[in-house]
Amino acid sequence: MKSPIRWVGGKHRLAEQISSLLPSHDCYVETCVGAAWVFFSKPRTASKVEVLNDIDRELVNLYCVLQRSGKRLIREVDTLPYSRTIYDNLWHSKPSSQFKRASRYLYLNRVGFGGKMNHRSFGTGTGRPFHVLPMWLRDSPDALVERLRGVILESLDVEEIIRRYDRPQTLFFVDPPYLGLTQPYVSQFGLEDHVRLAGALRAIRGKFILSCNDCPKIRRLHTGLSITKVQTNYTISRGAGTPAGEILVANFPLPRSHRKMKSRTPFAPPERKR
Ligand SMILES: C[S@@+](CC[C@H](N)C(=O)[O-])C[C@H]1O[C@@H](n2cnc3c(N)ncnc32)[C@H](O)[C@@H]1O
Repeated sequence: MKSPIRWVGGKHRLAEQISSLLPSHDCYVETCVGAAWVFFSKPRTASKVEVLNDIDRELVNLYCVLQRSGKRLIREVDTLPYSRTIYDNLWHSKPSSQFKRASRYLYLNRVGFGGKMNHRSFGTGTGRPFHVLPMWLRDSPDALVERLRGVILESLDVEEIIRRYDRPQTLFFVDPPYLGLTQPYVSQFGLEDHVRLAGALRAIRGKFILSCNDCPKIRRLHTGLSITKVQTNYTISRGAGTPAGEILVANFPLPRSHRKMKSRTPFAPPERKR
């Protein structure tokens, strides 16, 4: 299943590979959920309990409303035209109800350039028809609502969510913001955050798999753990993108780096910003 939203850094093309590497567990926790690509690509039956967490409260509110009133939300957003005026009006609005906040968030995410939520940029183009929501979501919202049923939704800092759910039978998928790259998220995550995250992961009783950009500092923080390199592309527009290294780190054996997994991580946005 696909994610209903666009997300910078979303694991669109790596999701199936990552989910195929997940060891058996009872409780699955995505600590930095974003568009939840790995969650949506893994079978629900692989976990007894599923937890989605992100520090972005508006994002988590969207998942809460999708879980509770997803069909109504999708119907409402689908009635809105693809319009710069509506985009600008919603950008400046501050709705107070959970439902209206979620509907604003979903519209801005689908219509904004590259799904970026941290600055105003209406996405448009001339090479294809534009719809606010993708066809699959308009046609079958039930599947999305069903997939989210029973999932625990949290909005805590990554270290806190690890502390709260760590058990021997817990598996964390940790996909923090890349180190040293521009982060279009509500909260910045710098070297100090990667250091405290690495410390928290070393101390856990459960298992984890972490995905991050391949740089010496990140490798040093996770020395001694299982590390595999994957090839991916950073791009927020359609096209080739820039080849970039990404690594997976785990506290259980991963496939060795010479069996490189190749993939790209496109962000599937509108064609361009105008
Ligand atoms: C690379 S994105 C995750 C992408 C996601 N795996 C996907 O497939 O779409 C990183 C996420 O970390 C979140 N984040 C940033 N700082 C955080 C923190 N201190 N605790 C938890 N989440 C955080 C951001 O809001 C963002 O959604």
